Amino acid sequence: MTLPYALEMRGIRKQFGSLVANDDVDFAAKTGEVHALLGENGAGKSTLMCMLSGVYRPTAGDILIRGRKVSIRSPKDALALGVGMVFQQFRLVPTLTAAENIILGEKSSVWRGASWMRRKTEEITAVAERFGLGITVDRPVWQMSVGEQQRVEIVKVLYRGADIILLDEPTSVLTPGEADRLFETLLKLRAAGKTVILTTHKLREVMAFADRISVMRKGRMLKTLNRLETNERELAQLMVGRNATGAVRPEAGTPGKPLLEVEGLTVEAGRGRTAVRGVSFTVREGEIVGIAGVAGNGQSELAEALAGLQAWSAGTIRVCGREWKRASVRTAIESGVSLVPENRMKSGLAGSLGIVDNLLMKTYREPERSRFGLLRGRRNREWARSLVERFDIRATGLDTPVRQLSGGNQQKLLLAREVDRDPKLMIAVHPTQGLDIGATESVHRLLLGLRASGRGVLLISEDLDEVMQLSDRILVMSGGSIVGEMSRENADRERIGLYMAGLRAVPGEAAS
Ligand SMILES: Nc1ncnc2c1ncn2[C@@H]1O[C@H](COP(=O)(O)OP(=O)(O)OP(=O)(O)O)[C@@H](O)[C@H]1O
Ligand SMILES: [Mg+2]
Repeated sequence: MTLPYALEMRGIRKQFGSLVANDDVDFAAKTGEVHALLGENGAGKSTLMCMLSGVYRPTAGDILIRGRKVSIRSPKDALALGVGMVFQQFRLVPTLTAAENIILGEKSSVWRGASWMRRKTEEITAVAERFGLGITVDRPVWQMSVGEQQRVEIVKVLYRGADIILLDEPTSVLTPGEADRLFETLLKLRAAGKTVILTTHKLREVMAFADRISVMRKGRMLKTLNRLETNERELAQLMVGRNATGAVRPEAGTPGKPLLEVEGLTVEAGRGRTAVRGVSFTVREGEIVGIAGVAGNGQSELAEALAGLQAWSAGTIRVCGREWKRASVRTAIESGVSLVPENRMKSGLAGSLGIVDNLLMKTYREPERSRFGLLRGRRNREWARSLVERFDIRATGLDTPVRQLSGGNQQKLLLAREVDRDPKLMIAVHPTQGLDIGATESVHRLLLGLRASGRGVLLISEDLDEVMQLSDRILVMSGGSIVGEMSRENADRERIGLYMAGLRAVPGEAAS
């Protein structure tokens, strides 16, 4: 007999100091279902998963696995109970191969000779193939794409016997194609009687693949729904507690003077690889230019060159008619260029510092902020407080290490700093990655606000809906080149998708 619930949580509470991250949460997942966990940034989704996977222990409440009350003290305990988690930040050793990573940490992982290794490798390959998880078992992890690394993580928990699989925002790092592939795998897992629990901010995915959906808000569990009995609108409303309508882009005005002119720009990425190949385009005042493309096709290097962080080997960059002689962050800042970088914790924010210090990072030298080499403490705190209010950044205090803020609030902080500098040109790279609907909407409003006040925005994103919703013109980047350009009126998902896949001439187009 199979029990209806693979897993139950009853009255779960989790406190971090005075902060209640999970408050009297009840949650249950059925055997053989795909269960999506939704909620705003900071709602408590990751915390809940971390208690199931043994990373955190509940402050109060019970966890039942297959009907039996259990105590999960460590990830090892969790795995012994058949619970495996695929983390957002992968935990693989880059220099080891996929197979070595998977075997590593097993009870009897001492090297037992070549034939033993061969047998293990065969077992791993069999698991991977059964669930459509193509991986190259003998390739070192550092040579793998993000998508493949994620597949290795999934094979790892399956190989170790997990039948309850937790995935925390698995698609936020994937390209649209990779995400589709992941969902095929999840459906195969379900068909094999496994239980899949995942968090995501993408309602479209939830409606396409989940059997049941649980929604959290502010640490509490609101409701569990059947997918067939709900819709995107209802889910969005439950999550944010009001109608989320999405930011509306007003019709085009007349774009003004060119702000950014890029001609034949070529950027080398080291190890003999050319990341950006002879790229040319213009961004004008009052215009949002979107660059769509699968990550890793030169977008990051392009953004870095335009922010003065990366040298270029050929071509020219002109901002407000003035040509840049060489890569210089100072020149970029003085020309009025702002960057919201791809990886906010790596190159945008300092995790151990508080909100005030992070806001000051680029402007602490200005007379407004410091005098005679001393920071103007009280004035700066007031300024920080006003930004926190204006940008709706939720945190326990101005000195909370920003590492502890939820993803959405970190992103808002970064935007607050960059927008407050009143840039002429904003380069925004994946600005809403990992953000909930409400936060996404406020970021979109911000970018549209810049456009309305005659600023220029270069929006680099993998999210086609976002690019199509906001941009006046859309460029598609593939293999370091711009392979397609479309006005807003001519843009459609399919055509952009084909360009993203690297096609230069879309069938049927040559004739027209
Ligand atoms: N280790 C920690 N120490 C202190 N506070 C924490 C810790 N981990 C999480 N929190 C806080 O607990 C709350 C819930 O965070 P959690 O990461 O579970 O949210 P989430 O729903 O996963 O959000 P997101 O969608 O942004 O990932 C947040 O207010 C967060 O700041
Ligand atoms: Mg989370």
